[in-house]
Amino acid sequence: MKIPFILNSENVIVEAEPGQRLLNVLRNSFRLAGTKEGCTAGRCGACMVLLDGAPVSSCLIPISIIKDCEVITLEYFSQTPEYADITTGFRQAGIELCGFCSAGKIFTAHGILSKNLRPTKDDIREQLVGNDCKCVNSELLIAGIRLAGVLKRKRLDEN
Ligand code: FES
Ligand code: FES
Repeated sequence: MKIPFILNSENVIVEAEPGQRLLNVLRNSFRLAGTKEGCTAGRCGACMVLLDGAPVSSCLIPISIIKDCEVITLEYFSQTPEYADITTGFRQAGIELCGFCSAGKIFTAHGILSKNLRPTKDDIREQLVGNDCKCVNSELLIAGIRLAGVLKRKRLDEN
């Protein structure tokens, strides 16, 4: 079947089997290697993208349900000021990502900060499911997200 959707701000149409995973379509049909294949079970976050603005694990999404939706991958998101806030906040917290599941960490942070610029540690902890990772423990990640929130608030006040 042919599935039209918006990918990184461009209208695209892909020919795919309805049950094919969004993860595989992004990697194989669009060569978007920033969306990584890890656990393929919604646990690691390596395959995370924004679907209509919300972070989702693309390994759990059948391509048929993204018809007419908007998908944003790390390649596009990395050009935004939100990405700069998050990666700077992570750096300030001392987070070092090997890169394998950066998408999960960054889009989870974005999802949290899109709804709440002053999340408490508990607010963040509740939303860290699906981000198992050997590089970053959750306390460090929470600190990085809170620092990213400080940077985003500063940027929005300045603009
Ligand atoms: S590959 Fe999708 S959550 Fe791990
Ligand atoms: S960033 Fe998750 S395993 Fe390295």
